[in-house]
Amino acid sequence: MTDFAKVNCVFKPDRKLNPTEMLRAIKFAVSSEFEAIQIYQQIMESTDDKRIINVLKEITEDEKKHVGGLYKLLEFLSPADNEIYQEGYAETVENFTDGE
Ligand SMILES: [Fe+2]
Repeated sequence: MTDFAKVNCVFKPDRKLNPTEMLRAIKFAVSSEFEAIQIYQQIMESTDDKRIINVLKEITEDEKKHVGGLYKLLEFLSPADNEIYQEGYAETVENFTDGE
């Protein structure tokens, strides 16, 4: 499998990814989107230049949409994992609202 984690990796596949590899690649893409959001937020907090802040705000919103799209792909690619995610959501809602 192509090592997506290597920054300088040039993706030249000699074959298509199998389903397991695709799932791992999409999960890696999700973490990369969050990492990008974090970087943009740090840059925004490090400047008073409104032009830069405005551009990065817009890009950050786009990255959040990408996260949503990738999450949806994970649902399609791994219904079994998705059931576990849903259990986690429900447990968190229950625990969170118990504290009110
Ligand atoms: Fe993105």
